[in-house]
Amino acid sequence: MIILAIESSCDETAVAITRNGREVLADEIFSQADMHALYGGVVPEIASRNHINVISRLAGSALEKAGVSREDIDAVAVTYAPGLIGALLVGVNFAKGLALSLGVPLIPVHHIRGHLAANYIAYPELEPPFLALIVSGGNSIIADVRGYTDFRIMGASRDDAAGECFDKAARVLGLPYPGGKPMQDLAEGGDDTKFALPRAKIEDAPYDMSFSGLKTAVVNIVHNAEQKGEELDRASLAASFAAAVSDTLVPRVMAAARELGYDRISVSGGVAANSRIRRDFERAAAAEGKQLFTPPLRLCGDNGAMIACQAYYEYLAGVRAGMELNAYATMDIDKTLY
Ligand code: KG4
Repeated sequence: MIILAIESSCDETAVAITRNGREVLADEIFSQADMHALYGGVVPEIASRNHINVISRLAGSALEKAGVSREDIDAVAVTYAPGLIGALLVGVNFAKGLALSLGVPLIPVHHIRGHLAANYIAYPELEPPFLALIVSGGNSIIADVRGYTDFRIMGASRDDAAGECFDKAARVLGLPYPGGKPMQDLAEGGDDTKFALPRAKIEDAPYDMSFSGLKTAVVNIVHNAEQKGEELDRASLAASFAAAVSDTLVPRVMAAARELGYDRISVSGGVAANSRIRRDFERAAAAEGKQLFTPPLRLCGDNGAMIACQAYYEYLAGVRAGMELNAYATMDIDKTLY
């Protein structure tokens, strides 16, 4: 079964084509990050306009790269939640038009489910059930993946997502947007024990997370140093920051896996690209004899292949949308309208 999928939930426009879920025939991505860097974050209106400018061309080049014709497409899939509403609507409307004109089913896909499916592409042997952490710019979720379309949220961030926190810390340190990779580079050679940054715990919710206190702590350290005219050890601050994020994520995920008796752990989403976090997860998983699945860097960030892959399993579960399909800025991973 050949699925063409559209992803436009934030500042990446992506079109991918897969065969039977996990075989990627084409994976076209246009990142607008440079256009938003000027403003220090994503400007929703600019994102929507740029999706409109490139989406049709990307679909054309995906077909060309995949070596398939429009008639070969069995279904069209699209990210419909969560994300920036205007940005999502561009993809949803393009997908509707394409599905209607080709006379094929339209499959709505939850963006965070897509991030998880990145590991299905990277590891053909991976099948539910397992424990998953999805950490991106908009979400930090620990989920019990009971089936391809059956999820139970174990914990989530109560405030900022981990990626958002990386981006805000980067901004106050004068680094470009998106801040995750520049923060990682800055942390090289830094002392990760130099700054005692908070690792928030939430009473009675062992798997929930909070990153806003960490963000505020970094902002205060930078402002204090500026006010006192002191030179700041930025590399050590970045390294201490990454350690605090990692210390928030890794023990929770390992404890959730132990509680559920899972030997397999999936970590995906943009922040899963972080070298410190990956290393800490690898060590923790090895120490407990658990199998860790993290996608290659290319599949960590937003892409169309992960949406096309998840769409295949949604399709098998009978998920279809009609022309009434709408976009939603927020939606939990365990909810679906279809
Ligand atoms: O998954 P993604 O592309 O978009 C969302 O669905 O949100 O994630 C983007 C986020 C940004 O916050 C970015 O700073 C972060 O992932 N990120 C990283 C790294 N690479 C990207 N965070 C930490 N370390 C990295 N190497």
